[in-house]
Amino acid sequence: MKVLVTGGTGYIGSHTVLCLLEAGHEVLVVDNLVNSSEESLRRVQDITARTAAFHAVDLLDEPALRTVFARNSGEAGSESRIDAVVHFAGLKAVGESVSQPLKYYHNNVAGTLNLLRVMDDYGVRTMVFSSSATVYGENNAVPYVEKMEIGANNPYGRTKEQIEDVLSDIGAADSRWHIALLRYFNPVGAHESGMIGEDPLGIPNNLVPFIAQVAVGRREKLMVFGGDYDTPDGTCLRDYIHVMDLAQGHVAAVSYVAQKTGVFRWNLGSGIGSSVFDVLHAFERAVGHELPYEVAARRPGDLPAFWADPSAALADLGWSTTKKLDQMCQDHWRWQKNNPTGYDSPTPSTVPQM
Ligand code: NAD
Ligand code: WQD
Repeated sequence: MKVLVTGGTGYIGSHTVLCLLEAGHEVLVVDNLVNSSEESLRRVQDITARTAAFHAVDLLDEPALRTVFARNSGEAGSESRIDAVVHFAGLKAVGESVSQPLKYYHNNVAGTLNLLRVMDDYGVRTMVFSSSATVYGENNAVPYVEKMEIGANNPYGRTKEQIEDVLSDIGAADSRWHIALLRYFNPVGAHESGMIGEDPLGIPNNLVPFIAQVAVGRREKLMVFGGDYDTPDGTCLRDYIHVMDLAQGHVAAVSYVAQKTGVFRWNLGSGIGSSVFDVLHAFERAVGHELPYEVAARRPGDLPAFWADPSAALADLGWSTTKKLDQMCQDHWRWQKNNPTGYDSPTPSTVPQM
C-alpha cells in the first residue's frame, strides 16, 4: 500500500514509518517539524535501506496539503494514489494544553478537519488515528475497555475525544470510510539500533524520557510525583508499551481497516500496570547503577492507576505486546546513551562508547 504518515518524523511516527517500510509499504511523510527533526527519517533510511518521501507541510496549511494529495492522486501526470493515512500529527503536552487550549484545539482539531476534507476530496477514505488512553478520563474502572463511555479531563485529551467523535460521525454517515481509532497507553523505548528514539524539547514531561536524562547526566534527579497513592508502593501505575510494539500495531491496523469499512476502536497496551518505582528500577538495571530520586508532591491531574484491556486488538488484529519493561528501558537507554542530546548529537557511529 501507499501510506501517508502525518507526524512521521516524530517519536511514534518515525518508528511506525520504519515498520511500514519494512513491511513493504510505500511511505510519504507530512510534518511541520514543530516537535521533531528530519534527521529521524534519514536514520530510518540508514536502518531500512528504504526511503520515505518527506513533505514539510503544516496540516493547518490546507493548500499545501492539497498539493501533496494532488501529486499522489493517480491522475495523469501524478504519482499513484495514496491508499491510507496514518495520522500522528498533533501537539501532545497535557500541561501546555491546559495553559494554551486554543493552540491545542486549533492545531489538533482544525488540522485534522483539513486533512479529512482533503482526503475526502481525493477519495482517500482509510485513516488510522492516534488517540490516547487519556480519553477514558477519571470515571472509568480499570482495566479500560473500548466500549466504555469516554470523557477526557484535560484539553489535550478533549482534542483526541473530539477527533474520535468527528471520525465516528463520518464513518456513520458515509459507509465508504475505513477508520481505526488507536488508543495508546504509555509508549516508551526505542528501536533496538539505538539510532532513533524520543527527543523531547526542553524539560521532559514524561517519566521515561526524564529518567533517561538523569541517567545521561542532563538532569540532577528524578522527582517522583506522589508516593502516597493507594497502590502497592504508593506511586502511580501505568501501562507502558514498547514503541516498536506500538508501531507494529499500526501496521496491523492499516492492513485490517484497508479491508473493512466502518469505525474500529482498539486499545494498544500490554494490560500490565507498572509503578514509577518499577520503571525507575528497570532503568537502573539497564544503566547498571542506581539513579538519584526524590519523592515530591503529587502532579495535578494524575490518576492513581490505569492499564488496558488489550484483548480486542488481539482478537481482531492478532496483535499483542512482545517486549517487557526491562527491554523497554534497555532500548530507551541505548538510544539516550548513543544520542545524549537527541538528534542534535553526532551520528551514533561517531560517538565513543560510554
Ligand atoms: P511527537 O511530537 O514526537 O510527534 C508528533 C508530530 O506531529 C511531530 O513530528 C510534530 O512536528 C508533528 N506536528 C504537530 N502538529 C503538526 C501540524 N499542524 N502539521 C504537521 N505536523 C505536525 O509525538 P508522539 O509521541 O510521536 O505522538 C504521536 C501522536 O500520538 C500524537 O498525536 C500524540 O498525541 C499521540 N499520542 C502520544 C502518546 C505519547 O505518550 N507519546 C500517547 C498517546 C497518544
Ligand atoms: C507516568 C507516571 C507521573 C514524570 C501522559 C499523558 C497521556 C499520554 C501519555 C498522550 C505518572 C510519574 C512522571 C516525572 C514522575 N500521552 N512521573 N516524575 O501522565 O501517564 O500520561 O503520557 O496521549 O495523555 O497524560 O505519563 O510519563 O507523564 O507519567 O513521577 O518526572 O510517572 O506522575 O505517575 P502519563 P507520564
